[in-house]
Amino acid sequence: MNEMNGQIRQSLAAFIMSAAFVCTSCEPSNPQPPAPVPAPVSAPVVPAPELYGTCEPGDGGSGKTYMGREIAEVMGHFGVGWLERSEREREERTDLLVDAMKLKSTDAVADIGAGSGYFTFRIAPHVGEGVVYATDIQQEMLDIVSERALEEKALNVMPILGQIDHSGLAASSVDIVLFVDAYHEFSHPREMMLSIVEALKPGGRVYLVEYRLEDPTVAIKLRHKMTEAQARLEMNAVGLEFVENIATLPQQHVLVFRHP
Ligand SMILES: C[S@@+](CC[C@H](N)C(=O)[O-])C[C@H]1O[C@@H](n2cnc3c(N)ncnc32)[C@H](O)[C@@H]1O
Repeated sequence: MNEMNGQIRQSLAAFIMSAAFVCTSCEPSNPQPPAPVPAPVSAPVVPAPELYGTCEPGDGGSGKTYMGREIAEVMGHFGVGWLERSEREREERTDLLVDAMKLKSTDAVADIGAGSGYFTFRIAPHVGEGVVYATDIQQEMLDIVSERALEEKALNVMPILGQIDHSGLAASSVDIVLFVDAYHEFSHPREMMLSIVEALKPGGRVYLVEYRLEDPTVAIKLRHKMTEAQARLEMNAVGLEFVENIATLPQQHVLVFRHP
């Protein structure tokens, strides 16, 4: 583990020296609507070809594997209606998830793979003196977030256009990272996670929310679900420490990890 941490530190040091970051501050008093920030130039990544592979694509799968798991296909922006469906709070108890994050008013939170910002706009009022970075790789999603931020005068919401292998967040800029139903779609999960670990402040937390693959009653395509064991394996591989699995949601794991 020490050896692995050493390797991760070395990789991150290389990242810090070379990455171009896009977002360093938020001005809550700025009356202008938040505009999407352009994507950074792609940073060099840690070569880990042995961790990736290919397979015959399963239902909803991409045909690419990471640490034995088939990566899912990305949900297109046409799926916004499903993300914003009125029954979602009751079905998924999204209110309990926001409570479980124990947010402080000054927190800088990154909602990664934010989509239309379903969680971004539920988190923003809890971090009035902080910021919520809503990141996604689809500009169409960020356009929805920007429009809604303007309508709701949510000036602490900052959209960020990420890349498939880099979150677009600045180093040591966030206290909390949230992924809801997004991580399993990342085409380059290792590179994304290394950029996210770098963006976390020491002691920062990651909330990884995924439909429970262990539970056959959760009616979601298999490639869009994850087991706790697989998630822990993948987070551990980038140096994050497992804290707990908050088992309060009806269908999803809420896996909490910590940046040492
Ligand atoms: C199923 S949606 C979930 C949206 C939102 N988290 C929610 O729960 O309402 C997954 C989102 O992850 C985004 N995504 C996929 N790969 C990504 C990556 N590498 N970086 C950032 N976002 C990504 C997709 O574009 C999509 O908007």
